[in-house]
Amino acid sequence: MADPAASAQRRLSLHGQWSSRLAFVLAVSGSAVGLGNIWKFPYVAGQNGGGAFVLVYLLCVFAIGLPIMMAEILLGRRGRRNPVTTMGLLGREEGGSRQWRLVGLMGMLCGFLILSFYSVIAGWTLHYTVLAASDSFAGLAADGLGELFSGLVSNPVTLILWHTVFLIITTVVVARGVEEGLERAVRVMVPALILIMLALLAYSISFGGFQAGLEFLFRPDFSALTGAGVLAAMGQAFFSLSVGMGAVMAYGAYLPQEESIIKTSVAVVSADTAIALLAGMVIFPIVFANGLDPAEGPGLVFQTLPLALAKMPAGILVGTAFFILLAFAGLTSAISLMEPVVAWLVEAFSMRRSVAAMLAGGVTWALGLMTVFSFNLLADWQFLRGTLFDNIDYLTSNILLPAGGFLITIFAGWIMCANSSADELDATVGPAYRLWRFLARYVAPVAVLLVFLNAVGALG
Ligand code: TRP
Repeated sequence: MADPAASAQRRLSLHGQWSSRLAFVLAVSGSAVGLGNIWKFPYVAGQNGGGAFVLVYLLCVFAIGLPIMMAEILLGRRGRRNPVTTMGLLGREEGGSRQWRLVGLMGMLCGFLILSFYSVIAGWTLHYTVLAASDSFAGLAADGLGELFSGLVSNPVTLILWHTVFLIITTVVVARGVEEGLERAVRVMVPALILIMLALLAYSISFGGFQAGLEFLFRPDFSALTGAGVLAAMGQAFFSLSVGMGAVMAYGAYLPQEESIIKTSVAVVSADTAIALLAGMVIFPIVFANGLDPAEGPGLVFQTLPLALAKMPAGILVGTAFFILLAFAGLTSAISLMEPVVAWLVEAFSMRRSVAAMLAGGVTWALGLMTVFSFNLLADWQFLRGTLFDNIDYLTSNILLPAGGFLITIFAGWIMCANSSADELDATVGPAYRLWRFLARYVAPVAVLLVFLNAVGALG
């Protein structure tokens, strides 16, 4: 009983396991790759001056996000429960406190808030699927596409309709459970999305803004980067990798004991980053070739890509496929945002999975109205960081996820004994384990603190 390694070995998840390592890699990549890569990364990079932001983003991904992802998976697999129960269980087991479960609870709150706006944005991609299929971009120049986009977001009824559709689909998939729902949803989507992006890249190049676009994205101009920009880069790294709230921890609970956490994490983080950069390489050339503003904001993808789609052969087909795949990428991410809370309701309150999913879906739907109205009825209500949506986005990406990630890495690096973490990460790859432990104990927590302090101006 006193030996943590022995009791961890005996634990099994209530919800079954992934059928293979591939299934797990697919599920975690499905969580990571989503609107964050294609919708959010380009517009946040654009708002923060490009190159220098991208460089800081890459540093955050590999020095902070990657070790925290490994920590989440290893804690999840060791606890084999939802993030709240797992953190409490391991807290006690490792000689700390049961109150570590508060980290899991904070993650649940954060997940609700993220999913509430995520679903609204995913709704935009559903709407654009219909627009693409009905050839609605034909003959439109940049200003026409701008009007098309503002026409959509100014209409709360349309936004609520698509938000509802998207959340119902998410709820149904989550209700059906790990093996049936989650696994099947991911298989073809990521490769197909990459293929279409590569095709789009070819047409983006032909616009003539390629060089300007690449320079914006990859030539660091540090004078364009503020403390707030550095925080935004770190927040974007957490958001894009799905770390800091327990989503990856919940998935880790279903990972078979013999699979390598280190290899999986490196593969997922690399793929996620490559796709974000690819999206930037497609979008910014279009921005510069058409005299658009890189700091346009959340509408950026929707106002640029249709220009390339209109130009390419079979643009209707490619455009429709692109927006469907983007909605799918959003779906596999949304599932991972809902899974932790559903697993918690099932395990801690013995709720039926379907009931738990409907409850989570209902709460998220109501919260989503805040985002819907931020773009129309409440657009003029600005405080702190901007609209209500801007504030929810800032609170989750820039504060709650890094804070959650900080506590997770402190737990895995400092509270958990080295025997336990070495036991979960392949102890056979000695140098990789030592590198992880160094990043998890020193680099990641210190970096998060410095970025926070810098953003509030405490570092002068
Ligand atoms: N990473 C996803 C994206 O880039 C969004 C996401 C899914 C997420 N699960 C998460 C973000 C958990 C933070 C935490 O679109």
